[in-house]
Amino acid sequence: MYEIVKNETLVPNIVHMKFKAPKIASTARPGQFVIIRVDERGERIPMGLAGWDEKEGTVDIVFYVLGTSTAKLSTLKEGQSVANIAGPLGKPTEIKNFGRVICACGCFGAGPTLPLAKALKEKGNYVMTVIEGRGPDFVFWVDELKKYSDEVHVVTGCGKTAWANDFIEQELQSGKGVDRIFAHGCPFMMKVSSDASRAAGVETIVSLTPIMVDGTGMCGACRVEVAGETKFACVDGPDFSGHAINWDGLVMRLRQLIPEEDKSFNIWERDNWHKLMDCRHKKSFNPAKRRLITEVEHPDADCKLAGV
Ligand SMILES: Cc1cc2nc3c(=O)[nH]c(=O)nc-3n(C[C@H](O)[C@H](O)[C@H](O)COP(=O)(O)OP(=O)(O)OC[C@H]3O[C@@H](n4cnc5c(N)ncnc54)[C@H](O)[C@@H]3O)c2cc1C
Ligand code: FES
Repeated sequence: MYEIVKNETLVPNIVHMKFKAPKIASTARPGQFVIIRVDERGERIPMGLAGWDEKEGTVDIVFYVLGTSTAKLSTLKEGQSVANIAGPLGKPTEIKNFGRVICACGCFGAGPTLPLAKALKEKGNYVMTVIEGRGPDFVFWVDELKKYSDEVHVVTGCGKTAWANDFIEQELQSGKGVDRIFAHGCPFMMKVSSDASRAAGVETIVSLTPIMVDGTGMCGACRVEVAGETKFACVDGPDFSGHAINWDGLVMRLRQLIPEEDKSFNIWERDNWHKLMDCRHKKSFNPAKRRLITEVEHPDADCKLAGV
């Protein structure tokens, strides 16, 4: 059993959770992930590591409440436990002194970007972090990322630099030079970030999130096509060059179980909606509609500048 020592809703539908997991905390590296099972009947949920503290013996994840398993996880309280956490899994991100680097993130991606930016800064890189969100109310950990970044830019869909890929394009055109780009977030954000750097040929490392089951290279669920070859993201990645990914194939595989996932969530929500109304989730739950608030319908998702 792994105790939850923190459960904090950061912005609507995005939760930061900290667990007691000393063994994982003692060997974790940026870019790695864990697989969590909420209970004995729970499915395996892969989550990127958003931090760890070897002395305290804790690990952090940041997750988007998307379907049954993440909703179930989000309703657990501090002091409760999950059945198991396997990890750290996957190859760590290559960390070197590259020079000027961009860390682009969106959605839950600011989570795993935090240890990445810290490690890159410690190696002497000039770190530019760009965080994108559908509105200022969907952006989190700006102050934390500032600690390890030389520049932090928040983009919320407005103006010339609307999204992270616009920032990448503008930075590449500025002539100051960019030596490596990292992107964490949804597949669309990582794809367009990779497209933005393709012509300039600047290596863009994306952290892929295909459907995973065992996480140890045995089931084949996480296969992705990289430079025309089949790779297993759990053991060969999750980091890959964004320029080499077959993005259409990735997205097609990610969407293959949507009817079953919707059905599962409807059944779970019917019996558990009251848990989602817990005060910790007021930010994420619309009681009038008895369903999770999506980014689009959130009232604050407007074009205010984030003031950063
Ligand atoms: C290496 C890795 C790291 C990840 N890191 C994070 C993270 O830091 N934060 C975060 O919010 N999410 C992360 N994800 C995605 C996360 O695992 C899925 O959102 C989660 O499993 C969805 O489960 P669900 O039951 O809530 O949703 P469901 O309703 O079951 O699924 C919703 C969608 O999530 C995706 N998904 C479903 N099951 C899996 C699975 N077993 N593996 C991967 N994707 C799945 C599919 O696209 C599906 O359509 C990561 C995935 C991988 C592979
Ligand atoms: S999750 Fe089974 S091979 Fe990668």
